[in-house]
Amino acid sequence: METQRTTLDITKTSATRINEVDFDNLAFGKHCSDHMMICDYKDGKWQTPQVLPYGPIPMEPSAKVFHYGQAVFEGMKAFKDEDDKIWLFRPEDNFKRINISAERLAMPAFPKEYFFEALETILELDKDWIKKGKGNSLYIRPFVIGTENGVSASPSSEYRFIIICCPAKAYYSNPVKVTIAQKYSRSADGGVGYAKAAGNYAAQFYPTNLAKEKGYDQVIWTDANTHEYLEECGTMNVFFRVGDKLITAPTNDRILDGITRKSIIALAEEEGVDVEVRRVAVREIVEAAKNGALKEIFGAGTAATIVPFLGFDFNDNYYELPEIENSYGAKFKKMLQDIQYNLAEDKFGWTYEVK
Ligand code: COI
Repeated sequence: METQRTTLDITKTSATRINEVDFDNLAFGKHCSDHMMICDYKDGKWQTPQVLPYGPIPMEPSAKVFHYGQAVFEGMKAFKDEDDKIWLFRPEDNFKRINISAERLAMPAFPKEYFFEALETILELDKDWIKKGKGNSLYIRPFVIGTENGVSASPSSEYRFIIICCPAKAYYSNPVKVTIAQKYSRSADGGVGYAKAAGNYAAQFYPTNLAKEKGYDQVIWTDANTHEYLEECGTMNVFFRVGDKLITAPTNDRILDGITRKSIIALAEEEGVDVEVRRVAVREIVEAAKNGALKEIFGAGTAATIVPFLGFDFNDNYYELPEIENSYGAKFKKMLQDIQYNLAEDKFGWTYEVK
């Protein structure tokens, strides 16, 4: 991919904080690397991006983001291979998606050359924060917030695009138990479910807390109209294996067009697996669990990669999933990570070397 070079203002940190971090015991997202990028939008245009030492940003309490949640974000990862080369995975898709999300929240599009140059600059400066070995990565969090001061309920005329990075290991260290939503919803027709809008995540916290009180880690969201069809799960898209078929819901205005999701579909099709992208009925999955046809369920997302589910609750009945050999989840996780860590040929052209 060609990226046009622009000029960023770069201020390097005078003292790295890397020695404060225990890289063997990382809580996801707790530590940020030494540098961040900030780019402001004002007077109708994006200003020169600044790469700066990571630190607090002064903002007025009346800034629109605090009142109306005008905020969108992305999640990406950088990986280091055995030769110390640094790789991003399908970064152009993250770039496109943050602008799709921004448009839905009435925010201006961010220029591609700024996005890639900022990423490359931060990853070069903070390369020691990316550890080698499968499972290690630097989680990259680009986000945009409305920064205009004033509490009138209208789109901000000023924005701030920020990129921060956090060294990461597994998002879920164990398989998860989930419950199927029957009352609350994550998104609705015509809403913002397909966007990575900050509020989509905040809206899940309360029902997820209720699920946790009952012993479940996450909620599988169902369609808001009928609660009859399975959609996303927590921060992930979700896949069901019934017999040897792999089934996942189609993307639409309620469901995020997950990059891990579409990579799994491509890998599975390449492997000759029968993949069905269609609505997945709750009753079909419950029936398949009862008659033994349901072999696995797994979640897929950038932060989580691929996470197997132990079982699911529906209507206060818990259905445990069988332990199986040759799980699709494990197979596609390995295939995906082999590409991400430059251990296998990338037939799809998904990887992007940071030079
Ligand atoms: C990601 O997978 O990148 C996400 O957006 C999950 C995040 C909310 C932790």
